[in-house]
Amino acid sequence: MKLNFSNKRIFRYITIIFLILSSFLIHPNRIKALDKSIGENLFIQHCSGCHVKGGNIIRRNKTLKISDLKRNGIDSPEAIAKVARLGIGSMNGYKELLGEKGDQIVANWIWEQSQKAWVQG
Ligand code: HEC
Repeated sequence: MKLNFSNKRIFRYITIIFLILSSFLIHPNRIKALDKSIGENLFIQHCSGCHVKGGNIIRRNKTLKISDLKRNGIDSPEAIAKVARLGIGSMNGYKELLGEKGDQIVANWIWEQSQKAWVQG
């Protein structure tokens, strides 16, 4: 059997493979998964010292659990991002350490954890 691929055909295969690979790379679920692990890492690096497991070792009634967040009026990812950036009360802001979009990414992760009562999974 003789293989007789024309250049055109090879080019088409390469294009198809490229499209499949790139659609996999930019798939929204992959971006979501990536953001999730970045969020978790930012949290571990910059927040968990005081907010271990979503608690608060300094102010017991200002945890990252949904009941406290709601009571204290910080009940959206955006509101958490603002606290992460600028701080609140006796907590400093972490704008520089979190980097561009880091505030939002870590806030989304925290918000998701708060919805799941900080139980892993
Ligand atoms: C050095 C300790 C410390 C670190 C590190 C820290 N926090 Fe805090 N956080 C606090 C304290 C203390 C408060 C309560 C501040 C107040 O109201 O006086 C607080 C409050 C908060 C609140 C409001 C919670 C509520 O129920 O009212 C959010 C949201 C929050 N922190 C997010 C973060 C995020 C996000 C990070 C990491 C980027 C972070 N914190 C890092 C000490 C810390």
